[in-house]
This record gives sequence, C-alpha cells and structure tokens, in this order.
Amino acid sequence: MVASKYAKRELMQSEFTQRANGLPAHGLGLSVDVYSPELLQLVQALRDAELEPGYLEVFKATTSALQWVRRQLPDSTLTYHGEGLWSTQPDFPHSNSGRQGVAEACAQLAALNSAWLNHECATKQMAGYAFGTYVPPLYTELSARMTAENLVYLQTQVDEQARGRGITPALVLLEMPPLTYFGCGTFGIPDFFRSVTSRAACGLVLDIGHLWTVYRYTGSWQRQRLEDFAAEFLDAFPMERVIEIHVAGLAESANFHAPGIEEGSGALPYWIDAHGAPIPGVLFDLLDQVLAHPRLTSLKGVALEVDTKPIAMIVEEFRRFRARFEGTVNELEQNSCAPAHQSPATDESSGTTQILTSDERAILQRQYGTYVEFVTTQDAVSRAADLSLLGGSLENLNRYRDLYLPYELLHWGGELQDMFPKACRALNEEHVPLERFVPFWFSRSRPEQDDYDFFLLKIDRFAEFVAQACPSAAAIVAAEAEELRAAYRAANEPVGSTEVGV
Ligand SMILES: [Fe+2]
Repeated sequence: MVASKYAKRELMQSEFTQRANGLPAHGLGLSVDVYSPELLQLVQALRDAELEPGYLEVFKATTSALQWVRRQLPDSTLTYHGEGLWSTQPDFPHSNSGRQGVAEACAQLAALNSAWLNHECATKQMAGYAFGTYVPPLYTELSARMTAENLVYLQTQVDEQARGRGITPALVLLEMPPLTYFGCGTFGIPDFFRSVTSRAACGLVLDIGHLWTVYRYTGSWQRQRLEDFAAEFLDAFPMERVIEIHVAGLAESANFHAPGIEEGSGALPYWIDAHGAPIPGVLFDLLDQVLAHPRLTSLKGVALEVDTKPIAMIVEEFRRFRARFEGTVNELEQNSCAPAHQSPATDESSGTTQILTSDERAILQRQYGTYVEFVTTQDAVSRAADLSLLGGSLENLNRYRDLYLPYELLHWGGELQDMFPKACRALNEEHVPLERFVPFWFSRSRPEQDDYDFFLLKIDRFAEFVAQACPSAAAIVAAEAEELRAAYRAANEPVGSTEVGV
C-alpha cells in the first residue's frame, strides 16, 4: 500500500514535470481586468513609460471581449485568470460550474492562447448558498482529497477540449486563497496543498498578500515573526509546484465602520486582499524571501494583480517591482526545471489512488452545509462541534459575519438603494430595515440551476425578500427587478467585432 501511494505520487509529479517544463518563461507581468482600469489605456500608459510587461493575465470576461483583447494585443503574451469554477465543492463535476463553466473557461483559454488556467482554491457557492466574495475551502484532509479529484477532472476536460481545437492544453493552476478574517478546518494550509498536489498534476499560484493574511488570521502573528512564519510555511508548502506568484494590495475594509486597532497595542492591521489598494512594502520583502526558497524550481511568471487600481499607481508600482525583481525572476525562470521527484510528503495518507466514496462525498456535502451555518449564523459556533477555526480568534469570525457579510450583500456588486429606489422607500415607510435581507438571504438554499451571477441572484432574492417582508410593494419590486435584468442582459450582450462587450 505504501509502495502504491509512493508510485501514484511519483506519477503525478512526473506528469506535472512534463507539463511545467513545456511552459515558456513569462517574466514579470500584470494580472488585469478588461474594463477596470480600461485595458488598452493601461497598456498605452505602460508603453509610454517604457515598461511593457512580460505578460498580461486577463480576468474572466465574456469570450467575445477576450477575443477582442487578443486581436488588439496580437504580440502580447496573455494568460487566463478563471472564475466560477468551484473545484473545492463536492458536486463540481456534475454542477453547472463543472460543465458549462468549464466549457466557457476552455473557450476563453483558446481565445487568449493562454499557457495556463489559474483559479482560486476557493468558492462563492456552497451547499446552495451564494457569497459575493471568495470563501476558502474547508482545510481538512477529506476536502483536500476531493479538491484533488475535481482538479484531475478539470485538467482532463481542459486537455480534451484543447485537443478538439487542435491547440496545446493549458496547465491548471490552483491559487492559495486569502483568508478574509477567518479560516476553518483542522489541516494546516501547506499540508492541504501538499495533499492536493500528491494526487493531481496541477501547478500552484502563491499569492504573497494571501500569505500575509494567513499569518494574520490564523493568529500566527501573535506567536512568531513574519519571516519565521514564512520560512516554516514555505518549507512545508509544495514550492516545487509553484508556477506563478501574485502580489497585490492589502487594505482594511473602508466600507464598514469597524473597531480598528488600538494605538500602541502592537496588533497588526485588519488588512484583507484589496487589488485596488497600494502594495505594502512588507509584501515585497516577503517576495524576496519566497524567491530565495530552494524548492522554487518551476517558476514561470510573477505578476502584480492590479484590477480596480488607478493607472498611475500601477505604472509606478510596476516600475519599482521591475527595478527590484527583474534580474532575480529572469534568472530563476531561466534555471527553472521542474524536478522529476517531489520532496517527501509530510502526511502518511498522501498519494492514495482512492476515489472518494459516496459516503465521503455525502459527509463533505454535510460539512459544507455546516460551514455555511458556522460563518453566517450567530449561535452556530457552539453547535458546530465538528468545525473549528484554523487558529485565529472568534472575534475575527464575528467581524466577517457581522460586518463583512452584511456589507457584501447590501452594498457590494450593486447598492440596493440605487438598484431598487422605490422598493427601498416602501420598506422604509413600513419600518422594515434593509439589514433583514441578510438573514433572509441565508434562510434557505437554492439549487445551482444557473451559472453563478451574484448580481442576478441579488436581484431575484431581493425581489423575494420585499414581496415577503412588505407584500404591498411586491408589484413595485417586481417591476424594478425586471428593468434591472433587462439592462444587465443588454450590457452583457456581445457587440460588434471592434468593440468590447461589457
Ligand atoms: Fe492572486
């Protein structure tokens, strides 16, 4: 048994090695959005400053928009940052995300001619409940095995669809997600990723800001210095699988009034992943440490993630980034050669060929249901005996549930007051506080019938909420909802060949 586990691990590593060694070096790049800031304006500003990036990693948009980007930038190296592929979830291969979502991702990979498909190891949809921003996976051994199985499925789909198009298949990359105030589980994050890579031939993306949030929200900052934490973390993490590194801004949420850090308390700020915010100096120091790690042997690109950031700030940050890291990154990429053998796994159970049983899948389904309750309900913590925080404090989980989550539902991806002015006025007249929409949202699960679209879901759910909480406004909210849907549909329609569909 031990021998077969070892053989499986070796097989995964050699498949990865073959794929990784076939990837070209990408150099220093930028991870961008088509619209925010406007991509061609950004490219022009970088050209004017003589700072052309080695590559642009483009976030998911409509396929026609990505084809347009490809036509506008025929000589640029473009890679793909996927979205909506919920590979951390037990039903992924059979879900909408795992079928239409994967087909769409494959079309977009082809549109860009991307060497890889990067996706966050996180979800916005769990057990029939939707979230506006990413929720990390359950950090458990079972969850790691299931994620690996889903990644094998995803890579197979990418391979098959690429073959159908006669193009080289992209390599699936899994990005370690940020912690937004909390993480849940019993398995260390490096162990989780090692368990995944021992079962799937995927590459990884290490995001330096995300690493900082792990230091912050697992409570490690109270026990050790950042350098010591990072040294331990990187030694345990499958660094030999890291194909790309991301660096992005961090900031406290400016969107809700939360108690901050007391002056002189020595505590770290409540920073979370914030692509529009400046990159703090501490992240470039951490990047230095990561680039010096001896097992970083497969690196193909390092990108600043700059969607939603002002162009002038991007240009300035990219200038500093290039001046400091270009030599090191080029040297690393030139010498990069993925090793044929993986460093020894840290857990005994790694590398089994075993597929999850239906019982194990059912356990995970249940656990994800409990996870939703755990992070959204006031008294769930005491009831969820089988769930625990990944270090960190209960106070920070409360921060997520009581401040971040309501902000996300009420204001993020569309301000309810602006979307539904008449219905909100009617609620106000009936003294129904908008905040009641939050428990309503999590009061029942919805099967995943359609592709995840937070904006459309928000429209549907708010219309249901108003009709229930204030029946006299049912017709008003229905009319406003229909208007919003029509406007959204029109805005998302692919347009002529020279314009980008928005
Ligand atoms: Fe990232």
